[in-house]
Amino acid sequence: MSHDPSVREFEYTDQDFDVVRGLIYQAAGIRLADSKRQLVYSRIARRIRALKLQRFRDYLQHLQANEHELEEFINALTTNLTSFFREPHHFDYLRDYFLQHHRPGKKFKVWCAAASTGEEPYTLAITAIEAFQGYTPPVEITATDIDSQVLATADLGVYAEERIERMDAARKKKFFLRGKGRQSGMVKVRPEVRALVEFDQLNLLGASWPLSPPYDAIFCRNVMIYFDKETQLKILRRMMPMLHDEGIYVAGHSESFSEMSGLLKSLGRTIFKPAGR
Ligand SMILES: C[S@@+](CC[C@H](N)C(=O)[O-])C[C@H]1O[C@@H](n2cnc3c(N)ncnc32)[C@H](O)[C@@H]1O
Repeated sequence: MSHDPSVREFEYTDQDFDVVRGLIYQAAGIRLADSKRQLVYSRIARRIRALKLQRFRDYLQHLQANEHELEEFINALTTNLTSFFREPHHFDYLRDYFLQHHRPGKKFKVWCAAASTGEEPYTLAITAIEAFQGYTPPVEITATDIDSQVLATADLGVYAEERIERMDAARKKKFFLRGKGRQSGMVKVRPEVRALVEFDQLNLLGASWPLSPPYDAIFCRNVMIYFDKETQLKILRRMMPMLHDEGIYVAGHSESFSEMSGLLKSLGRTIFKPAGR
């Protein structure tokens, strides 16, 4: 059935869904499976409501006619699930990597390529502070994402307290400030943690990446899963030369493209180095 006005607030046809799929693939490389039809409806319905339009078709016309709407469209369709110390073994590995590769005067550079609301890059900063036992470790973190809305949250570094409930008490105290009064129930990353991370908007599909390689580590976790193989390979081909000779690439738990591509060599547990180095 192409649309069911009895249950939906806005008219939404199969053709509308296909147009959305085509546009988000073109803009962000994100492949939406047939099963995402309802998800697309609920995400875009918010924009249609905000703009006081009647139908998906009206929204798609608005999108074509207003360049700035593309950002809202992309923000609406990205999936931003993340958490502090997600897949903790990657941070254990990085701490050891820092200590093993540290030389006097060396500054490590880490790129977090799909930073979402900031939990991942702040975990990288915490890892660096813990590794070097001081709030000014020799580590710079560049954190990027396509979604301007999540970047605004990341930039603030303010989270609901539940987001850190599984962290041990010492860590909470060392790396977060507790909100008081109207901010109660919220925590904010300490300025020393915030200072280690720079946030920038970057589309992994974009023609130019505003970055300054080489990097010691690229964390590109849980974003490649939204791309098709061809796009993944294109991105990996651009990323690998951006790593130092001993640099590492860290993928998400379900991202196993790895050796097939001939671009990466596995170091175990979805950690890789560029092939041939
Ligand atoms: C599921 S989150 C992963 C967050 C974090 N890396 C983690 O593993 O917890 C995926 C992120 O990828 C971002 N993203 C999707 N397409 C992108 C693109 N073309 N360029 C850059 N970021 C993109 C989304 O905005 C989203 O914040």
